[in-house]
Amino acid sequence: MSDFQDVAGTDDVDNLDTRVDVDDIGVNPTSTPTFREMVDARYSRRGVLKSLLAAAAATTLPPGVVDRKAYADAKDAGKAGAGSASTLTFTELRNVIDENHHVSPGYDAKTLIRWGDPVLPGAPAWKPGVADADGQARQFGYNNDFIAYMPLPAGADQSDASSHGLLCVSHEYVSSELIWPGVTDKMKTTEAQSRSEIKAHGASVVEVRKGAEGQWSVVNGSQFAKRITGDTPMVFSGPVAGHARLKSRDSDTGLECRGTLNNCAGGVTPWGTVLLAEENFHKYFSGEINDAVEAKAQARYGLPNPDYGWARYEERFDLKRFPREANRFGWVVEFDPYDPTSVPVKRTALGRFKHEGATVALNHDGRAVVYSGDDSAFEYVYKFVSKSAYRPDNPAANRNLLDDGVLYVAKFTPRDVKWLPLEFGDGPLTEANGFHSLADVMIETRRAADLVGATPMDRPEDVEPDPVSGRVYIALTNNGKRTESQRDATNRRAENKYGHIVEMLPPGSGTDAVNHGADTFGWRIFLQAGDPSKPDHDAIYHPDVTRHGWFACPDNFAFDQRGRLWISTDQGREQDLYGIPDGMRACDTDGVGRALTRLFFACPAGAEMCGPCFTPDGKTLFVAVQHPGESGRTKRSTYDDPITRWPDFDEQTPPRPSVVVITKQDGGEIGGA
Ligand code: FEO
Ligand code: CA
Repeated sequence: MSDFQDVAGTDDVDNLDTRVDVDDIGVNPTSTPTFREMVDARYSRRGVLKSLLAAAAATTLPPGVVDRKAYADAKDAGKAGAGSASTLTFTELRNVIDENHHVSPGYDAKTLIRWGDPVLPGAPAWKPGVADADGQARQFGYNNDFIAYMPLPAGADQSDASSHGLLCVSHEYVSSELIWPGVTDKMKTTEAQSRSEIKAHGASVVEVRKGAEGQWSVVNGSQFAKRITGDTPMVFSGPVAGHARLKSRDSDTGLECRGTLNNCAGGVTPWGTVLLAEENFHKYFSGEINDAVEAKAQARYGLPNPDYGWARYEERFDLKRFPREANRFGWVVEFDPYDPTSVPVKRTALGRFKHEGATVALNHDGRAVVYSGDDSAFEYVYKFVSKSAYRPDNPAANRNLLDDGVLYVAKFTPRDVKWLPLEFGDGPLTEANGFHSLADVMIETRRAADLVGATPMDRPEDVEPDPVSGRVYIALTNNGKRTESQRDATNRRAENKYGHIVEMLPPGSGTDAVNHGADTFGWRIFLQAGDPSKPDHDAIYHPDVTRHGWFACPDNFAFDQRGRLWISTDQGREQDLYGIPDGMRACDTDGVGRALTRLFFACPAGAEMCGPCFTPDGKTLFVAVQHPGESGRTKRSTYDDPITRWPDFDEQTPPRPSVVVITKQDGGEIGGA
């Protein structure tokens, strides 16, 4: 998200567990593959892909920090042998920022679903500028961010895996000034507007299908349709469930919760559930905290610092009256999209911070590893390692896999990444420092991480494991607050305006035994964003990156089925200063095209790019256009006078956040086979 909190910021994740090539699912046309079978197929396919990649011009880059020479050497090696620099064959889009979106020639990019479109039965027709909380609770929410494509095994034809599924989409926040006529301050919305905004948060599940002509559409009246909002009943599980610090206005037990907020990126588990990450939860709470313990604890999360006026109408957001309510947000929420009646669960073992996302890798020993960045300046990178192994033969055993395990935080040294456990009673995490149990460590994850000596990073956004190579990529979007004296090996630039990407190497990367659970990883800089033609930007890419291919503020990643990296960006309000669009760029991570980023899709003015998500066959890419028409540094934009009315371009209609579906006109793989 941008939301102008820090400097810039957005979202999503690739669907680690849904990218399955239909060729690998089996040959019996009479059996419908279960979700588990598809996952198994994808993991066996990984070995094949790795062999192909290894054969196609391997570039061995040195451990530690990579410099420009490494990329130049890779390019020269390519000239001597493999020829073409990149495996991505799309024609690079030229830089453009205008009222509309744009995609590389030869591709179609069409709006699939917009804010206000119907999701649940009985959804009323959307009316611009009209507050209707009940209607909004049945319509597609605002500011679509994370997208998960979950294949539906409907029908006997196995090729359905990539032509029929559920889109699970999060709705991070609302741009009040673009929703309501005459509103220029989020803090001053009316009660009806505020209640509608609460319903515009959360997530939507819609069923989608690819027609015979290759056109995607939303299936009306789907049994799977679901809306999760800022009011939806859910429960806590894990080490904090039932703790006194979770008891508040709507829960005497500390076991139930009302709503999820600021769902940014997310993840998909091998057992077919979706993870929603609660990011900037602090913005919804107003009032001074009179409870001394909670006041100190909440200060570490930036509370109080309200951005919304909801507390005037919803007392649970008033910290003066309910000082523990904010403890009930900042978690990872798991839900089962295949069961529309399922109750979402806040998994407290994954810690409480401003979770950008929650991406899952299945370790070689079957344990689930969840990576997550805490998206604020100088915050940390985390991973959770489950205690038990995933059981493909026993779905019930996986349901609470994320309740028991160890949360680790990353300490980067010039040589490696050390994963430091956050366990009660270990090192400084004791009574002496105010931790009385693991529950306190999880509620105050940031303070625990401070005490063990984690490395403050330049706003960690998506942390994405590449299912092909096993390497893990961190989007560090920017950090204008880092000073010269605060520079370190991993965060090398003071006033880091453009962001960078760090590549972590778990032991066994490139083999079938990647150890995501290890205590120590290798790492190296994958690229430093910025304009490579300007020496003061100190940008590092492949030397052939063009003036259209450079970018700023990496936010979310998706890997296509060939292990190529797709990068979405969010420059926030800087977009109109940097003069390049937010959108999608893509590059190889191996071979002579490593870090040769090229522009593929450009957002309309004011929007950030979120949710990149491929179907298993790589022939469809879903992207989320978030906050189209939001103000920049130099351009003010409101409901009454927006800088774009994308995607409807109707004079009575404000811009509408929407999911866009991208396909290749010849029906081939996105980016080229
Ligand atoms: Fe919601 Fe960090 O972007
Ligand atoms: Ca994001």
